Amino acid sequence: MDKLIITGGTQLSGELRISGAKNAALPIMAATLLCEQPVSIGNIPHLHDITTTMQLLGQMGIQLTIDEKMNIEVVSSTITKYEAPYDLVKTMRASILVLGPLLARFGEAHVSLPGGCAIGTRPVDIHLDSLIKMGADIRVEAGYIHAKTRRLQGCRLVLDKVTVTGTENLLMAATLAEGTTIIENAAKEPEVSDLAHFLNEMGAKISGIDTDILTIEGVEKLAAKDIHYDILPDRIETGTYLVAAAITRGKVKLKDTRPDILDAVLDKLKEAGADITTGKDWIQLDMHGKQPKAVNIRTAPYPAFPTDMQAQFTAMNSVAEGVGIITETVFENRFMHVQEMQRMGADIQLESNTAICKGSEGLTGAPVMATDLRASASLVLAGLVATGDTLVDRIYHIDRGYDHIEEKLAQLGATIRRIPK
Ligand code: UD1
Repeated sequence: MDKLIITGGTQLSGELRISGAKNAALPIMAATLLCEQPVSIGNIPHLHDITTTMQLLGQMGIQLTIDEKMNIEVVSSTITKYEAPYDLVKTMRASILVLGPLLARFGEAHVSLPGGCAIGTRPVDIHLDSLIKMGADIRVEAGYIHAKTRRLQGCRLVLDKVTVTGTENLLMAATLAEGTTIIENAAKEPEVSDLAHFLNEMGAKISGIDTDILTIEGVEKLAAKDIHYDILPDRIETGTYLVAAAITRGKVKLKDTRPDILDAVLDKLKEAGADITTGKDWIQLDMHGKQPKAVNIRTAPYPAFPTDMQAQFTAMNSVAEGVGIITETVFENRFMHVQEMQRMGADIQLESNTAICKGSEGLTGAPVMATDLRASASLVLAGLVATGDTLVDRIYHIDRGYDHIEEKLAQLGATIRRIPK
């Protein structure tokens, strides 16, 4: 397994291009299953989860071609089976996103249950209960979801909890349902909106985009021709590099991104003392060489502070001035990075879903490893500011969601290198 070695102590500076959003690319690739015509998608990030999604669609018989600019063309008419097998689903829970489109277009889907996950139980009950309300016949047997329908029926769905992939699955399913579907308490993450815009380009009739009530008028088929759709920029990658700059008291400019979808994160960085300037598609952060101030954070669905940025801010608080309280409300077990940071000298006290971080004198490099994507990234951030070397193990988590992280950080001046297995 590859490892990353980081020698801390350099103030980051320079410019960087932000990649397309992983969490928009995955549902959009799944949504190509709905279209009867070839579809082209651009701004695809170079990530392991994208390769997994290509494998997932490929093993169904779908034709995918990718060019050197990371444009993917998908032809779904060659499909031969409607299955997402366990060995792919277990490495990427987002594989559940093929359930809605397969069922809606082909009337049949066999998708492995995602099973356990490091950051909490992450059930899919809302996905399944809602599809049943839409008339699907669903059986869970031997670890697989077997779903069938003649045609899904539009109806009113009030989701018990705000769920991102749940909303996306139902949104995709509803595009081909008979009649109108209304999804209330829908997730309004920008990636959900990106998917909705893509579906509309293919011929779907979705209104209420960017709100928590989505109305979908079902159509017979999605068959728009010559579709090319560029994925929106990754707000979590953007936020991670902004924290990398803040934690090292540096100055960076991030290009090809979207400040308008990062309000909660930018506000907290300003509170931490960062000087932030933005343009339509860029963000610049300058710490003027100052130590960040600790901030209080409470994660919640968009537009509130994203859970996917919680670990990175925990790293920043652990070297900040003062005390910062971090409350995680989305996932019940998302503090695995804390123990590793404590090994690096961080003063963090955990009480159920709250982490109380007291700024410490400084962190010390250590061998560390993490069990999920964002937690691993937060350990890299801690390594950037620690004294000496930090060896981050199990970085396949990072490769799932960060496009060439060591190259991008090195471009900003960090001393970081990958040690191949
Ligand atoms: C998505 C993102 C992930 C992000 C998360 C929260 C993708 C591919 N992943 O994950 O990066 O951290 O949103 O912003 O987009 N829940 C249920 N029943 C369900 C579904 C969810 O109880 O059927 C609960 C979950 O356990 C969790 C909460 O709802 O406590 C939110 O989860 P959800 O929004 O579904 O997360 P994902 O879509 O898996």
